[in-house]
Amino acid sequence: MTSEDRAMLASEFCGMRFETPLVLLSGCVGFGEEYTRVSGFSNRDAGAICLKGTTLEPRPGNPAHRVYETPAGMLNAIGLQNPGVDHVVGEILPKLDFSETRFIANVSGSTVEEYAEVTRRFDDSPVDAIEINISCPNVKEGGVAFGNDPEMSARVVEVCRAATRKPLITKLSPNQTDIAGNARRCIEAGSDAFAVINTLMGMAIDIDSRSPIIGNNQGGLSGPAIKPIALLKVHQVYQVAREHGIPIIGQGGVASAEDAIEFLIAGASAVGVGTALFYDPLICQRINAGIAAYLRRHGFGTVAQLTGSLRLNDARVCGCNT
Ligand SMILES: Cc1cc2nc3c(=O)[nH]c(=O)nc-3n(C[C@H](O)[C@H](O)[C@H](O)COP(=O)(O)O)c2cc1C
Repeated sequence: MTSEDRAMLASEFCGMRFETPLVLLSGCVGFGEEYTRVSGFSNRDAGAICLKGTTLEPRPGNPAHRVYETPAGMLNAIGLQNPGVDHVVGEILPKLDFSETRFIANVSGSTVEEYAEVTRRFDDSPVDAIEINISCPNVKEGGVAFGNDPEMSARVVEVCRAATRKPLITKLSPNQTDIAGNARRCIEAGSDAFAVINTLMGMAIDIDSRSPIIGNNQGGLSGPAIKPIALLKVHQVYQVAREHGIPIIGQGGVASAEDAIEFLIAGASAVGVGTALFYDPLICQRINAGIAAYLRRHGFGTVAQLTGSLRLNDARVCGCNT
């Protein structure tokens, strides 16, 4: 990338400088070290990296199978396997190079108190921001159970807000009816930003054993299969968030520069890349170059100018969806 490209791609997100609009997504990059062993990969190609979901105590995760490839996507039910917040803060964070990119902690819990406590521990650490995952479909308590209930969502945001002064990003679930209404409650409770969307619940069945393939029976669907849903959810949340100047990390199935540009146009200020990294760890370089070329071609000076530039069609003629 040229220095001119770099200047166009850089932006501010909740007071943090992102060198590129790309965010490597939680659960797809371990604790920020996973891909640094891949030749040609650089954390510097991402504006930020979300670390694996972290709970108060270590969690062994779910039984196998934990992942399964589906048409245009994958199901996963990892079950928030992680070494617990003390290990992450004490052993992992000191080894990360914070000059390379911004590192964002990803917080999960089974109770409201656990969310607050994990957030408090990360507040007292060098992470740049804290993302709260109220939308994980793969754990029995907490996770999506909180994220699908606007009252509970707001409660989790409220206690986490009280536990940190770092930027607080709420990761919203697509498995709910009124995502924009939920976003409004989360803003009132103190959320600084949103991540939209987490995975959608799904299932795959082995027809010989007649059992679900995923050990947890159900899992979260990610990858290109969910992109159209994710785009609509970003558009819907943006209608609420823009009034408050709240930025969105759009995500769900991004696998090319064109995908990322769609999310920016829909209202995202930054774009997450997750599942695509599993088959193309160097994908961020291509996406960055493609976004820069698009901005130049269309006369935009910065990524921020593209955010929310969607021109809706006049749907009044019919108004229905079929
Ligand atoms: C294997 C795997 C593990 C994940 N673990 C987490 C997690 O710990 N916390 C979280 O907030 N999201 C987690 N996610 C969701 C991703 O961060 C992302 O929101 C979702 O996969 C949609 O983006 P994608 O289609 O680009 O993968 C995980 C996704 C995958 C595929």
